[in-house]
Amino acid sequence: MLKGKRVLLGVSAGIAAYKSPLIVRQLIKAGAEVQVILTPDASSFVTPLTLSTLSKRPVFHQYFDKDSGEWNNHVEFAKWADIFLIAPATANTIAKMAQGICDNLLLATYYSIPDPSKVYFAPAMDLDMFKHPQIQENIDKLKGFGNQLIDAEEGELASGLHGKGRMAEVEHIIAALDDGSKSKWKGKKVLVTAGPTYEEIDPVRFIGNYSSGKMGYAIAQALINVGADVILISGPTNLDAPSGTKLISVRSANEMMEAVTSNQRKMDAFIMSAAVSDYRPKSRADQKIKKDGSGMEIKLDQNPDILKTVGESKKKDQLLVGFALETENAEENAKKKLKNKNADFIILNSLEEKGTGFGHDTNKVSIIGKDNKAWQSEFKSKSDLAVDIIQYLEKSL
Ligand code: CTP
Repeated sequence: MLKGKRVLLGVSAGIAAYKSPLIVRQLIKAGAEVQVILTPDASSFVTPLTLSTLSKRPVFHQYFDKDSGEWNNHVEFAKWADIFLIAPATANTIAKMAQGICDNLLLATYYSIPDPSKVYFAPAMDLDMFKHPQIQENIDKLKGFGNQLIDAEEGELASGLHGKGRMAEVEHIIAALDDGSKSKWKGKKVLVTAGPTYEEIDPVRFIGNYSSGKMGYAIAQALINVGADVILISGPTNLDAPSGTKLISVRSANEMMEAVTSNQRKMDAFIMSAAVSDYRPKSRADQKIKKDGSGMEIKLDQNPDILKTVGESKKKDQLLVGFALETENAEENAKKKLKNKNADFIILNSLEEKGTGFGHDTNKVSIIGKDNKAWQSEFKSKSDLAVDIIQYLEKSL
């Protein structure tokens, strides 16, 4: 589960820091990207050269690098990290984390992490230090913030004493991160709609739209990657369905509606990214319509609103997510859509930036929830954005 995860490893100044290179090695082996930051004294225990060679990245320990003249931005590190592992976490660093003290790059990064559950800390100290009620109180405080403890283990300590206080074995640390990285999507049944619908006028003509299906297919792929069970109901596209998805190919809104409703009951979540045609010709001509020298009118009927239909009949624990593309009063209209269709979230496509929306490989969205709060994504490739979207929605499963 650590494959592709961005792990920020914070090393503080304790003898257990000699194991940090092994942590880096194991993380890299598991397919993670690793960035190391040190407290100022940690380099007395482990060399930055070893850590940067293994992590294939420069190692940082101060805000400002005098040699390169560069500013090491703690907020950027915090935003980058999927996981912030502090190993070893010394008594001093733990105390500062518990008390709001921020006198080095590692601590400033710690306070900049937006989601405290991303922080894992592995204490390492002598047994009497570890037992001390103040240290235990500090550890409890961090747990109370939502940080994840990788508990110290019993054994021989650097002092020669025997007891609890040594940093957890490297493989236990990796296993704890691996466990914590398990997605809540694993094993969940998710229905994704994607692409346009084609509404036939006659055997050779249709009403359609420019939807490429790329966003929905990227979401299906991201879900497969975290172990979800995905049904992809797709209108006509030029894309290959991600392997592992159950693909149901449809053409019209009515066909999509039928495919969605017949699978509705057994689903845990619905992500409706299809650009469903709102109207269809009242009647479809059996033969190709010939021009007769005068104008032509096509009468249209309204198509069923698939998202709304699911919203009206969904079970309480089913997560329903719709998309919206608005050209005016975007956020206000998206909020209305959320309410009218009884969705849990609306993902609003941004039309402000070049390279977003239909057909492009990149996109930018905001996700609006029932609390009317909007989460704004960055401008990214649709496949990276899909990962961010499913991570954001995961909390609501
Ligand atoms: N949708 C749907 N069935 C339809 C129309 C839309 O399931 N017949 C879904 C889309 O898949 C998307 C969401 O509804 O998740 C928003 O689609 P949009 O076309 O923007 O909304 P409309 O309901 O058509 O709203 P309006 O035309 O009023 O903007």
